[in-house]
Amino acid sequence: MNGLCATVVDYPSEGIVFKDLTPVFADGAALKEVVDAIVEKFAGTFDAVAGVEARGFLLAAAAAYATGTGVITIRKAGKLPREVYAQNYSLEYGEATLELHQDDVPAGTRVLILDDVLATGGTLGAAAALLERTGAHVAGIGVVLEIDALPGRANLAAHNVVSLLHV
Ligand code: PRP
Repeated sequence: MNGLCATVVDYPSEGIVFKDLTPVFADGAALKEVVDAIVEKFAGTFDAVAGVEARGFLLAAAAAYATGTGVITIRKAGKLPREVYAQNYSLEYGEATLELHQDDVPAGTRVLILDDVLATGGTLGAAAALLERTGAHVAGIGVVLEIDALPGRANLAAHNVVSLLHV
């Protein structure tokens, strides 16, 4: 699975080394391996799985299906049709906003958040903040790949973060 991770230099802008996990998702055995591994690490601790647009959706849907739980959809700004909570955050290469429907998560739900890559932690920090605004409990954060040179883990220190691979 490790060998399937592609590295793209200067994408999406100069100076950024982008880790592309789409080859992992495209490989049936690798996709099953990563989803099963993440689910196992958090077994019994969550009632729903949240995915962060866009690649987090793939992992969240697979993990939710595998565990008989539901998927919580955390989207980029302007995509959700009903009342949302909105959270701004900084990326390595800019600013962005994530949104979550105000009524998609019953208060007290234990939510596992999944995404493909942890870099600065801005994205997952915003996702966790949105869930907490609904009254949900963040059961943990799972990613396939963590970039150790960036402060993502430190920025998510309040949460149980599990990464399957490190670069
Ligand atoms: C990438 C990746 C994570 C985020 C990690 O998403 O899929 O969500 O960046 O970076 P961070 O830890 O510095 O926040 P991107 O913003 O490129 O969105 P996409 O999945 O919609 O392409």
